[in-house]
Amino acid sequence: MYWERLSREEIRRRVAIAIDGNVNYHTDAVLGFPGTHLDAEDYYADGCSVLTRIPWASPLLDDEPFLRTIIENPNHIGCHTAAESEVGFPGTQALEREALAICAEEIMGAPAGAYDGYISPGGTESNIQACWVLRNLLRRTHAARPGEVGLVFSSDTHYSLWKAADLLGLRPYPVPVSDTTREMGADAAHATVAAAVRDGVRCVIGVVNMGTTMFGSIDDLDVLVAAFEEHNLPFYLHVDGAFGGFIYPFVVPDHPLDFRNPLIASITMDAHKMLKAPYGTGIFLCRKGLIDEVCTTQASYVHGKDYTVCGSRSGANAVAVWMLLRDAGSEGHTDRCRRLVERTDRFCSRLDAMGVAYYRHPAMNQVAIRAEYVPPETARRFLLVPDRHDDTPRWWKIIVMDHVRDALLEYLLEEIGEQNT
Ligand SMILES: Cc1ncc(COP(=O)(O)O)c(C=O)c1O
Repeated sequence: MYWERLSREEIRRRVAIAIDGNVNYHTDAVLGFPGTHLDAEDYYADGCSVLTRIPWASPLLDDEPFLRTIIENPNHIGCHTAAESEVGFPGTQALEREALAICAEEIMGAPAGAYDGYISPGGTESNIQACWVLRNLLRRTHAARPGEVGLVFSSDTHYSLWKAADLLGLRPYPVPVSDTTREMGADAAHATVAAAVRDGVRCVIGVVNMGTTMFGSIDDLDVLVAAFEEHNLPFYLHVDGAFGGFIYPFVVPDHPLDFRNPLIASITMDAHKMLKAPYGTGIFLCRKGLIDEVCTTQASYVHGKDYTVCGSRSGANAVAVWMLLRDAGSEGHTDRCRRLVERTDRFCSRLDAMGVAYYRHPAMNQVAIRAEYVPPETARRFLLVPDRHDDTPRWWKIIVMDHVRDALLEYLLEEIGEQNT
């Protein structure tokens, strides 16, 4: 994995060139688009400069290419890897393509150009998009009818897959996981798939987590594949790397959950989690050509048609992802991930010494502590996240991010220690 780090001056220069490559709402004759630049009269002329004065804001905000792109307001509607796109914004669309190339080729192991994708509003849309693509593919290649496509995933899977099933008429089948290892057992997977077959399911979309929401656990894809094969079910696999996609591959470079594995059809990543991008920066990736399954040909007024759930989306989000990737370079981002994992190691050694029970995947920066070890008042004060809000929590989760200082972890450990001595 390698992509080059660029100096901030170079990043600014490249974004300025990209913006210049777009249509300019201030100076060009743009009579047909429903969008415009953000107007100082609506947003206050000094509103933006206030942002650059926030003391903890990244120096990336100086002379600010991202804010400038927000103000110029390019619309990245469509899929720029698959088709010619809207004529007004080729400059920033090219930066989106470059960000996607880094994600697909360098991080997720796709051969050069052998993927399609887009920067979506988030992990939820990317997962729904994946299910949409794969459902249509199964319909076309296996004549699957409504009710015959199952969606199989571990019971720790994010709720967006339940949304996808509901929206797309897929039959959802959660596979129970072990309470301690968070793994799907072979027997549980076989029993779940057998139940799906009894219900009339003839083909399946399998979801494999690269980092579950509550636990950061990594699914074993072989367990699902064995269950599908035993029942002779045609299947496609989607990897949900919304949380883990920007950390797991950097800590464990050799793994079976990316495009190096021919079984993987599509991948979700989220730049607004571990990459620290602004919200609205999910990433959807799939093998080249699969996105044609969801080309909305009726989008006749959009140059290059539309292939996405969302339609219009901000080009500023794509620019932010590109800037963050280029500001870190592969080496910078890998170092950051390693540091977070080492800090999580130290935190877990302290929990071990106190005899506190928890789940943690060794390559991740996330720890789920069994609720009985955490005083509820402590959980509230430190804004830990429970596995459920509508019932007594069984787990509280901690994610060791850059803003989570060691001193804070130390205070938390002290309080947990007081409860458990
Ligand atoms: C594993 C996983 N998938 C999907 C999502 C949904 O992401 P978003 O909230 O960006 O839609 C999340 C969010 O936490 C997640 O952890």
